[in-house]
Parts: sequence; C-alpha cells; structure tokens
Amino acid sequence: MANSTPLHVVTGKGGTGKTTVAAALALALAGRGRKVLLCEVEGRQGIAQLFDVPPLPYEERRIATSDEGGHVHALAIDPEAALLEYLQMYYRLGRAGRALDKFGVIDFATTIAPGVRDVLLTGKVYEAARRRRGKSSEFVYDAVVVDAPPTGRIARFLGVNDDVAGLAKVGPIKTQSESIMTMMRSPQTTVHLVTVLEEMPVQETLDGIDELTREGLRVGHVVVNLVRPSLLSDDTIEALEGGRLDAKAVAPVLERAGLPAAAAATLVADGHGHVERQRLQTAQQAIIEDCGRPHVALPLLTGGIDVGALQDLAVELAPLVEDAR
Ligand SMILES: Nc1ncnc2c1ncn2[C@@H]1O[C@H](COP(=O)(O)OP(=O)(O)OP(=O)(O)O)[C@@H](O)[C@H]1O
Ligand SMILES: [Mg+2]
Repeated sequence: MANSTPLHVVTGKGGTGKTTVAAALALALAGRGRKVLLCEVEGRQGIAQLFDVPPLPYEERRIATSDEGGHVHALAIDPEAALLEYLQMYYRLGRAGRALDKFGVIDFATTIAPGVRDVLLTGKVYEAARRRRGKSSEFVYDAVVVDAPPTGRIARFLGVNDDVAGLAKVGPIKTQSESIMTMMRSPQTTVHLVTVLEEMPVQETLDGIDELTREGLRVGHVVVNLVRPSLLSDDTIEALEGGRLDAKAVAPVLERAGLPAAAAATLVADGHGHVERQRLQTAQQAIIEDCGRPHVALPLLTGGIDVGALQDLAVELAPLVEDAR
C-alpha cells in the first residue's frame, strides 16, 4: 500500500499559468465525494485571489466544490508557521515556541539559512500527503496539488531534503528528510510543467524535464496553456500570403458591409500578424510533441478566469487525473 496520497506538483516558467492550472487540476481531481488539498508555497495568496476569497490563513479551508460534488480545500503554507508547528510537534515547545517567534529567531532561520524555507514547505506538504483519518488507514485527502516554485527552482525545491539528509548523519532529521525524498521520488508524486507556445518557456520546459528526470523525479504532463485558436480559414491564409488579399481587395468588402474602407490596411496587417503568431505557435507545438512526455492543451479563455472558467479548464485536464490512477 502507498505511503502517501497522490501528489501533483505544478511548475512552469513564471506567468505561464501555474496557479491557474494547479487550481483547475485540483477541481479535476475532486471527483464525486473526493477531497483534494491545493497548496501554495510562495506566500502570494494567488489561490485566494483566484477563488475570490479572503487571504488564506495557515489553516486548511474548503474553497470550492467540483462539478461532481468533490471538495477542494486550500492551504497557503507559510514557512514561519510551519516552523512553529514543527517545533511544537517535536519539542512540545508550547509558549516557548511563541517566544522564539517574538525574538525573531524564526524570521532568522527562515530568511538566513538557504534551503530552510524549502525544507519547511516540503515538510508540510509531506505531512498533508500522509495524514490519515483518525486511526484508519485511509488518507485524509484523495490527492494533494502544489502550486510550486517556477521551473528554474523546482528541482532544488523538491530535492532540498537530499541535502539535509546528507548533512545530518543520524537522528530524526535525517530520517524525516529521507522519508520526504522517498515520497518525492515515489510513483505517487508527479511533476507537471506548464508552458506557453513561445521559444523561451518551451526551452525551459525541455530543460526542466531533463533536470527533474536526472534527479529521479517523475515528470507527468506538459500543460500547454494559453493556446490561441486559428481565426482564419486555410483559403484566407493562402490569399493573405499570396498577396491576393490586400487592402485594395478588402476595402470594397468593408464598404459593402457599411464599415469604413480606411480600416482595410490595418485589418490586413492584423491578418498577417495573426498568421505569423500561429506559425510560431505551431513550430513550438511541434517541439512539445517531440519532448517525450504526454501533453494537453488549454485554450486562451477570453473574459477572465473565474471558478466557472476553472471548471472548463478542469475538463481538459482529465488525462492528468487518469495518469494518477
Ligand atoms: N487558459 C487561460 N486563459 C486565459 N487567461 C489565463 C489562462 N491561464 C492563465 N491565465 C491568466 O494568466 C495570468 C497568469 O496566470 P497565473 O497567475 O496562473 O500564472 P503563474 O504561472 O501562476 O504566475 P506566477 O509565476 O506569477 O505565479 C493570470 O492573469 C491568469 O488569469
Ligand atoms: Mg502563480
């Protein structure tokens, strides 16, 4: 039997849609009666903003119900609070723990020591993914989703406990960090990479896949976000490229439709711009298709991202849910 519930880690280049995809994936995983925890670790309150709820405290809160009646709980993992919780759990510090906080010791530990932050954040994810219902063998959550740091930092973030285990020769810290790494490298943990179809993010995705694989971390899907649909028919594209569809040809059509003929040149230029963008998108798409990992595409939704839009994106993410089974 698995030692933890399925853990989905969502990374990607900054601004490509990590938070959006993590939230949509949590909804997708929250099938009938299922309970999913969506965690954020960057202290940005991105989840609260997305679901339009007040800032999340360091406490698991139900924030959404999936179409199928499952539940998504959210947690903004705060390293300071995680450290206090850790000290209290292991050393039963009680009020002394709070005194430490007052003296700024916790601030010191979490800002000065490199990696300490990540140890605390991943430690909390580990705790949530292994938590069981009372004394039963069932996990509290059916899945845990992490809105994780960007691609450039993800391997270090997930692998930080390797360093700790290496530093501590024996004792509870060594055991704990080794257990965390075992979970991170187990088949229960999957890292998904979000990208957009542009050169830099796609390159970062390829590098990310290599690095994660080298570190023994399992890469799941590449999520291609913000995909723009082609707005023009093949005939129109051909006519634009062949120069047959120019301002002179478009102006009378606009006039007949009661629109200003002067807009023809702009319209034709927009058409060329669109064709060019689609071409770049197609070229990057081909690279993703060759990357050796399965991929799914999410459309660019106009009209903003609300819970309804997240539910729509969740439907497209069904292959990631299947992958976890
Ligand atoms: N499929 C989509 N359609 C339309 N807008 C989207 C889509 N996905 C994300 N967005 C929008 O793009 C912006 C960036 O998305 P998001 O915040 O999820 O990215 P991120 O990778 O988490 O960014 P950061 O690196 O800053 O944490 C947001 O305004 C979000 O609403
Ligand atoms: Mg984000």
